[in-house]
Amino acid sequence: MELYILLICISISWFFFFFFNPLHRRSSAKKLPPGPAGLPLIGSLHSLGPRPNQSLAELSKIYGPIMTLKLGSVTTVVASSADAAKAILQTHDHSFSGRPVPASVATQPNPDATIAWVPPDNSWRTRRRICATRMLNAQKLDQLQHLRQRKAQELVSHIKRHAVSEAPVDIGRAAFATTLNLMSNTIFSIDMVGPDFDSAQEFKDLVWTIMENAGKPNLSDYFPVLRRLDLQGLKRRIRPAYRRLHEIFDEIIEKRLRERDFDPVNGKKGDFLDALLDQCEEDGSNFNSITIKPVILDLFIAGTDTSAITTEWAMAELLRNPNILERARNEIIRTIGADRQMQESDIDRLPYLRAVVKETMRLHPPSPLLLPHKARSDVELLGFIVSKNTRVVVNAWAIGRDPKHWEDPSSFSPQRFLNSSLDYKGRDFEYIPFGAGRRICPGMPLAIRMVHLMLASILQSFNWKLPPGTMPEKMDMEERFGVTLKKAVPLLAIPVMETKL
Ligand code: HEM
Repeated sequence: MELYILLICISISWFFFFFFNPLHRRSSAKKLPPGPAGLPLIGSLHSLGPRPNQSLAELSKIYGPIMTLKLGSVTTVVASSADAAKAILQTHDHSFSGRPVPASVATQPNPDATIAWVPPDNSWRTRRRICATRMLNAQKLDQLQHLRQRKAQELVSHIKRHAVSEAPVDIGRAAFATTLNLMSNTIFSIDMVGPDFDSAQEFKDLVWTIMENAGKPNLSDYFPVLRRLDLQGLKRRIRPAYRRLHEIFDEIIEKRLRERDFDPVNGKKGDFLDALLDQCEEDGSNFNSITIKPVILDLFIAGTDTSAITTEWAMAELLRNPNILERARNEIIRTIGADRQMQESDIDRLPYLRAVVKETMRLHPPSPLLLPHKARSDVELLGFIVSKNTRVVVNAWAIGRDPKHWEDPSSFSPQRFLNSSLDYKGRDFEYIPFGAGRRICPGMPLAIRMVHLMLASILQSFNWKLPPGTMPEKMDMEERFGVTLKKAVPLLAIPVMETKL
């Protein structure tokens, strides 16, 4: 609402100036993809609505799989089909691998040292390589899986306390707290949230503040000339959270450095922080105790909510489809038993559960528009010209529901992934919840483990039912668009104890 009032004020006051100014039409000489004409000054901003993934999917039915929208003063090209996504993320991957940096993200200390918000230059490549080889490869992930398993067990214990009195569990909140701890144990070997999920709130609240504010539509991103004014106060709200998180990281890094100094062998924990600190010690490395903090923060921000909401959407779809829930549970009990704790190595033996997770991410990709891309040069794309610096958005949400590729696209049917080689690794462009090409999500191997571990652990230990009065077919499955695509009404579900775990 706040945004719309501001838009109207700016629109009225600048209308005449822009309408009569011939310069604002200069770029139309180039052959951009088709799109709505839009209003003076604000362009098509008003058509985005509260759920841009859905509005853009509707617009693409009129203007086609590749279209141009003027959003404020920013020209944006939107891809809504597998072929268009392939052209952007594979054929012209190099040209479209830039990133426009949102104003809220740019307020963090040292944004140039992040992974997600820098051009794909050499230092970006080095940071991604360190993540891939020192944190996210199978061997490294296996080494720390016992820590994550313990966190999954704590999630089960937390839910057990609700099960005793058959009290409803807020699945999204529990999954968010658990994912923070799964991430913090992989990165720092410590917990960031207390075992009752209510203590040690600060870290959780800070990450949440960033996610909430960064997810709000920001005028500064549509009218870069207004950036300095921060009309909505988003920068003012988000900056202290960034600063405080950096302080917390400072304390953890300093403590680890002292431990490593005191005992060079046992002071190392073999986690990602040690890998980064080892890099800092290498001659000529760009890594130091300042530049590793944006990398760590990126991983927390990119990895926590995405994995947590996938778990929440999966549970919501399972509760809405009791036969699928029963089949997924039966597979777990049959394969692992009721009394042995689920391990990450069990995932390979649970094809139906894997299909449930894939189907969840098809219908509810946590980043429905991926992260925004930017053209690094003028590019000829499917017969059109996309100019340098144009913002490029890929609507993974629309692609995952395209009837050209998916039969009965809006039904939840994990079956479609059984006996299918379709995967999220960025080769099948009709299904790209993690993106594709050089900017593909580097956290995918960890995300896959975390989501399956959480989901299987809570399915194995409990039977689940909806609160009295909620019918599966009447469940509210509305989306809330932000940095991630959340469930608008949080999922409450009642756990019923079934195993001794
Ligand atoms: C279900 C969970 C997750 C999903 C669906 C997801 C999805 C995505 C998507 C769609 C992108 C943007 C790709 C593009 O721009 O084309 C991305 C980027 C990224 N993700 Fe994930 N992600 C998940 C979990 C994680 C985890 C656990 C981590 C960290 C361990 C992580 C770290 C990153 C980073 C650092 C980037 C930026 C990469 C770059 O710009 O080069 N993500 N992710």
